[in-house]
Amino acid sequence: MHYGGDYNPEQWPEEVWHDDVRLMREAGVTMVTVGVFSWARIQPDEHSFDWGWLDRVLDLLHENGIAVDLATATASPPPWASTAYPEMLPQDENGAVYWPGSRQAYAPSSPVYRRLAARLVTELVGRYAAHPAVAMWHVNNEYGCHLHYDYSDNAAVAFRLWLAGRYGSVEALNEAWGTLFWSQRYGSFDEIVPPRKAPYSHNPAGVLDFKRFTSDTLLGLFRMERDIIKASGAAQPVTTNFMGFFPPADYWAWAPELDVISDDNYADPNDPESFRGAAFTRDLMRSLKPGTPWILMEQATNSVNWRPSNAPKAPGQMAALSMQAVGRGADGINFFQWRQSRRGSEKFHSSMVPQAGLETRTWREVVALGETLGRLPALPAGAAGGSGASVALVIDWENRWALENPDHPVVLDYAQLVQRWYSALHRQNVAVDLVHPTSALDGYALVVAPQLYLLGSAGAANLSAFVRGGGHLLVSAFSDVVDETDAFREGGFQVGLREVLGVAVEDFGALVLPASAGRAAGDSAGDAGVGGVAGASAPGSAPGESRAPIDTPFGALTGEYFAEELQLLAPGDSGEPAEVLGRYSGGRLAGLPALTSKATGAGRAHYLATIPDDDGMLAVTRWAAGLAGVQPVLDTPNEWVEAARRGSLLTIINHGTEPVEVAVTGVDVVSGASVTAVSLERFGWALVDTAPVAAAPVSAASGPAASTSVPSTQELS
Ligand code: GLA
Repeated sequence: MHYGGDYNPEQWPEEVWHDDVRLMREAGVTMVTVGVFSWARIQPDEHSFDWGWLDRVLDLLHENGIAVDLATATASPPPWASTAYPEMLPQDENGAVYWPGSRQAYAPSSPVYRRLAARLVTELVGRYAAHPAVAMWHVNNEYGCHLHYDYSDNAAVAFRLWLAGRYGSVEALNEAWGTLFWSQRYGSFDEIVPPRKAPYSHNPAGVLDFKRFTSDTLLGLFRMERDIIKASGAAQPVTTNFMGFFPPADYWAWAPELDVISDDNYADPNDPESFRGAAFTRDLMRSLKPGTPWILMEQATNSVNWRPSNAPKAPGQMAALSMQAVGRGADGINFFQWRQSRRGSEKFHSSMVPQAGLETRTWREVVALGETLGRLPALPAGAAGGSGASVALVIDWENRWALENPDHPVVLDYAQLVQRWYSALHRQNVAVDLVHPTSALDGYALVVAPQLYLLGSAGAANLSAFVRGGGHLLVSAFSDVVDETDAFREGGFQVGLREVLGVAVEDFGALVLPASAGRAAGDSAGDAGVGGVAGASAPGSAPGESRAPIDTPFGALTGEYFAEELQLLAPGDSGEPAEVLGRYSGGRLAGLPALTSKATGAGRAHYLATIPDDDGMLAVTRWAAGLAGVQPVLDTPNEWVEAARRGSLLTIINHGTEPVEVAVTGVDVVSGASVTAVSLERFGWALVDTAPVAAAPVSAASGPAASTSVPSTQELS
């Protein structure tokens, strides 16, 4: 279990370093990340390197038994680089340059940047690959964090090459993008530019490819550095820090390239539900490399500095969120940063060693957490350390990029929606793995595929095979609409999943946007871009319908965004027709089908022709989970009590304001005591090894905590 944070000794005189390592030992720190923003200090000009200070830092840490996650320092080029080579600077869609003076001022496609970064990494790795302090390599930092997209000439050149590689010929590109529309036909790749500021909507297939290109380009930078590290003979694992469900990087494609997944997460203390968003990203990190522990690379000990209002964490909240990560597969808990900066943009960002000194709650909590983590035995990993999830939630970056293009029936925020679907399951303590549409799905009882607008043929075939093989699939509105090129398929909508759904949309029936559109369900790193869609009209002023009331076997449900009009299809050779289980109970479509279910092979696929509100998501997932025989991890009516499995280890956390008592039999991993129940104050947590009783869900005797009653899935099924 690693414990530590970003250590930026170059911001301090050397005498402070000795104080640092003494305090690190006091706090139980085992590993620090060094050098993330040290390029200017390491290489003061293009032709010289100054290693002496870094040699001394690494030696000092090693002498004190503290390992180093050594950063490659390429995240923020020094001003000399862009002064000498201004063409390496990125540009926005209007052609405005992002100048130096902040950080990350480089165009990812810039050959100059790549050359300078490659040289720095080569020198760094050559010097430190065999240093005994170095335990891991930290490539760059949060790729794409501030600059999601670069529209510079460097990007244009690289985009054309990428397109030529993808399509082979400009004719094939014209066909895929549908460029006969609006006279967009290209005579050669050289005529193509990134989707810069234009009078009106860009070609959506072109924008989708630009986003694919951007993710691939950033990944290419990672690969370049990783390959230099590996080629040097360095044996340490290589990581780069992810940012949850981060908009511009398709981490499904990135994950296989990293030895260790790591993630940065800054849940908002102002949002009482932000722990659900944090759980979502932790489950995502675990799911990106199943069976491999991941590292929480950054979080805040207390407040951040970059929100409009930066609330402090409540007492105990930092430890609770840390243990949430441990319970969901993390083998490392780290912070940004070790010692609070005195100067610069982040001086108000909390740290492990606060500016206010050591007589502080923050320092006491840092020491206490280090002590706790230091006492943990090796935690279950590999096949023995899984979440036990029998539910998978499909998330797909390519779908996100396509879905968030303009000119659709209604504006959707995909990240917000998938996190709301996740939260519905999380409120029931149902364990969830995140999967790609083409992931192996054996072992899951229920797959939830929300708003899967872009569904490639491989994904459609995979989901259909899952149903035929005995799985339950829940699909909801605006799914299976276009193929990989953002084009409608021959034969209407839901062509890919037609066999298993047995329905197709005739009309999407957009509703007036709900007020909640743009409200993220929880919060995550940096932030993972979940905000952004404003409600369209003030309550009462809307001319159209904003809600779709639906009667279902599990009660009344309210739909938002869409009230799709469905066609029931004649069954093919392979099955029965779809049954209508729910109908619109009011509005324009009153009496028409809104929820269907169809058996195919050994399984079943449900289609819900709308996006339910939060209560509706809870109800429909509870119903579908019950039908699929899914058991919750913890059977409790208190949705502020969170539970997760890591093999035989059960993590229970009370995020509510009132104390709770949870009945659970096993061994408390921290104290070593046998328990039959745990008492948890606000932000109290327990890690219980339930090995002898792991098969059955435990039940919680509810304390007086305020909660909405959530019946167990057993009751519902
Ligand atoms: C990101 C960066 C860090 C720091 C934190 C502040 O995660 O990687 O360098 O700026 O944000 O929250």
